[in-house]
Amino acid sequence: MADYSIRLYRDSDYTAVRDLFAEGTIEHTRVAFKHAFTLRRVWIFLGVVFLLPLLLVESIAFSIGSLALALVGLWLGTRDLYASYVRHALSDDMLDIKKYYLQRDGHCFWVAESDGVVVGMVAAVPSSYPGGERHTELKRMSVARSHRGKGIAKALCRTLIDFSRERGCQAVVLETTLGHQAAHNLYKRMGFRWQHSTFLNHPLAKAVDFKFFFYKFDIPTRRQ
Ligand SMILES: CC(C)(COP(=O)(O)OP(=O)(O)OC[C@H]1O[C@@H](n2cnc3c(N)ncnc32)[C@H](O)[C@@H]1OP(=O)(O)O)[C@@H](O)C(=O)NCCC(=O)NCCS
Repeated sequence: MADYSIRLYRDSDYTAVRDLFAEGTIEHTRVAFKHAFTLRRVWIFLGVVFLLPLLLVESIAFSIGSLALALVGLWLGTRDLYASYVRHALSDDMLDIKKYYLQRDGHCFWVAESDGVVVGMVAAVPSSYPGGERHTELKRMSVARSHRGKGIAKALCRTLIDFSRERGCQAVVLETTLGHQAAHNLYKRMGFRWQHSTFLNHPLAKAVDFKFFFYKFDIPTRRQ
């Protein structure tokens, strides 16, 4: 039997869900950073950073120092891609969760609780994408590391799909990023299909290939 239950968000969950969301998002920095090294333009940039001081100042120490600085800059920049996304969310829909999600039509917020502790979360909003008038958008999916691999995300997904179906919605849509490999697997497993990808609006996004992947799940008219 499952050792967790899914329920609606309560005010007492506020700090736990904000922390869970921030941790679940920032942890993808490492994957995005590693991905940057699969890109030729990043290697060219690092090569120039290394060679230029060597040619101009003829100092290997200076070259190594420049390279180290560039790597630190790349790490901090990649981290900021996620951190700026978190900052925005925490000061936007995640600022007054009850008001934003539980007091507006078509919105909702659930948590997974285990032994009195919040270990998972997901939110629903009416889709703002063009043509998505009868679509629900899935947001803020996150499960605590300690409770992953137990089917909690699938249960949260199903709760949101049931909610959308009951509201007469035709589809559930969502965006995720490259670093969220487990999330890609989760959504495909639940029957979502990849539609298209777009770059995040951030100066570094194109340079490091930071994209949002847009998925859609067409809700069957009857439960299967
Ligand atoms: C993605 C995430 C929500 C999955 O939560 P979870 O409760 O562990 O997932 P579940 O146990 O319900 O597993 C659902 C499916 O996800 C996939 N999955 C889960 N963990 C995975 C992993 N470590 N690697 C690859 N695939 C994984 C599997 O396809 C799995 O289905 P299966 O077990 O039937 O094959 C969780 O890893 C997480 O919170 N990550 C950080 C935040 C995040 O990425 N959120 C998504 C933002 S869009």
